Amino acid sequence: MSLAIVPGSFDPMTLGHLDIVANAAKRYDEVIVAVMINPAKRYRFDMKMRVKIAECTVAGLSNVRVIAEKGLLIDLFDRLGADAVCKGWRDEKDYSYELRMADWNRAHNPRFRTELIHAKNNHLDVSSTEVRALLEAGSALEGYVHPDAIPLILQSVKEKP
Ligand code: PNS
Repeated sequence: MSLAIVPGSFDPMTLGHLDIVANAAKRYDEVIVAVMINPAKRYRFDMKMRVKIAECTVAGLSNVRVIAEKGLLIDLFDRLGADAVCKGWRDEKDYSYELRMADWNRAHNPRFRTELIHAKNNHLDVSSTEVRALLEAGSALEGYVHPDAIPLILQSVKEKP
């Protein structure tokens, strides 16, 4: 059984993220989406809501499940016996950030393997940051997040403005 992890903050998960997960799900028997904490970031959605949104976004992919992980990615990698971590990138800034993460993770765990997947052209402008900006402006989220995630996101914002 081959296993890939798709880790990230997913604040919230976008259609760009979904595409990366679907790409991994075609090539690995099992994919685990790990919703994690990057201490450098402040989150709009709490961990529980980020997991819920991710779950409803990947619901159509039968070999994918979502977990919340508060520890280090290198430890999760070993604990799950993963074969690879898959992460997406859109531009040079993303690529160099992900390369730095991949180097750091491999320096601390030589077994660690990262696959960087280039986002599709129609997702180059899709980001969690953009989704949060659209929310702030009261604009529509269609085309940025999964249609089933929209009511969850709007409800969550209503409860915690
Ligand atoms: O793309 P993101 O939001 O930065 O993804 C978050 C995460 C944790 C997957 C990324 O920052 C990462 O790969 N970090 C490596 C160090 C680590 O495992 N941190 C976890 C908590 S300290």
